[in-house]
Amino acid sequence: EKGGYATFMEKEINEQPHAVGDTLLGRTDDEGRLVLDQTELSEDDLRSIDKIVIIACGTAAYAGMVAKYAIEHWTRIPVEVELAHEFRYRDPVIDEQTLVVSISQSGETMDTLMAVRHARELGARTLSICNTHGSTIPRESDAVLYTHAGPEIAVASTKAFLAQITASYVLGLYLAQLRGGTYADEAQSVMKELQGMPAKIEELLGRMGRVKEIARFMADTRSVLFLGRHVGYPVAMEGALKLKELAYIHAEGFAAGELKHGPIALIDAGQPVFIVVPSPDTAHGLHGKVVSNIQEIRARGARTIVIAEDGDEEVVPFADEVIRIPQSSPLLAPLLSVVPLQVFALHLSTAKGLDVDQPRNLAKSVTVE
Ligand code: BG6
Repeated sequence: EKGGYATFMEKEINEQPHAVGDTLLGRTDDEGRLVLDQTELSEDDLRSIDKIVIIACGTAAYAGMVAKYAIEHWTRIPVEVELAHEFRYRDPVIDEQTLVVSISQSGETMDTLMAVRHARELGARTLSICNTHGSTIPRESDAVLYTHAGPEIAVASTKAFLAQITASYVLGLYLAQLRGGTYADEAQSVMKELQGMPAKIEELLGRMGRVKEIARFMADTRSVLFLGRHVGYPVAMEGALKLKELAYIHAEGFAAGELKHGPIALIDAGQPVFIVVPSPDTAHGLHGKVVSNIQEIRARGARTIVIAEDGDEEVVPFADEVIRIPQSSPLLAPLLSVVPLQVFALHLSTAKGLDVDQPRNLAKSVTVE
């Protein structure tokens, strides 16, 4: 049942090209327009949306953070991302022109379900991005966009995360087309690039030998930091979460720009830091800013493990290790940059002799608040 792999997690990491590809299947109609799964929302309802609020927990919430960057860029609709349990018990400013998008692999997470119910009571439109057909959250939502990652057994989410990001890109591109505007034309070409992502993920999975070795060397490490910027910020947070969940190591993800406002004080000799470097094409010179961050922490003794695109040579002088990912446009890069972080957590957990699929104290689906 593990398809020749030692753990479900390893199997699921390797299924990620399919999770992304299958989530994209059947998403375009004859005219090349994007289509949703079941929906009670009319195109007019969706045209009238003036705000999107994404609610989720855990890994799904990091998919939501990635979605914010992409959806705002393509649609110019303001997007907020909030942990479902925080959203539920405050007074959010939402109405019938708000689209509340929940993201949940299981569709049964009680915190997320309660937040969806709260949103409906307040009159918002609700859309569920979910991996489990017929589960409670999609049943209680106005519209559904199913991810097709297939069943995810390992407690720590991997392929569902990539599928969630993919589905939120699809949602963003759909809304961009529906509403016209600057990025409607770009939607077609981004869709085309998305179709090519499974092959890039496949290629990347074939390059993970060095990551595995690094993980083995680091079995005694007590703390690991992760830095990222732009869409790399949620990827850094997800890398840290994976390590906490699987290897019980203190791990923290930071926005790279925040480094100088506090976290840089944590850097001392030998501190391992993963840096998710933005694509050199990222707007506003963010690539150069992150390269400076790597230089700063290296000068203070950090051991820098850099995740950078093929051909990005600027990082090399400041990197103890460079992990290469295929090139992509900046907003799509999380589908690639998170993969080495998943593989790292998997192999560190294995090196420590821990239960990869069933980490202590965690459940796959938390059905209590
Ligand atoms: C947690 C799981 O409890 O729930 C995480 O351990 C998961 O892996 C989170 O990301 C949210 O779950 P779901 O099913 O709502 O995506």
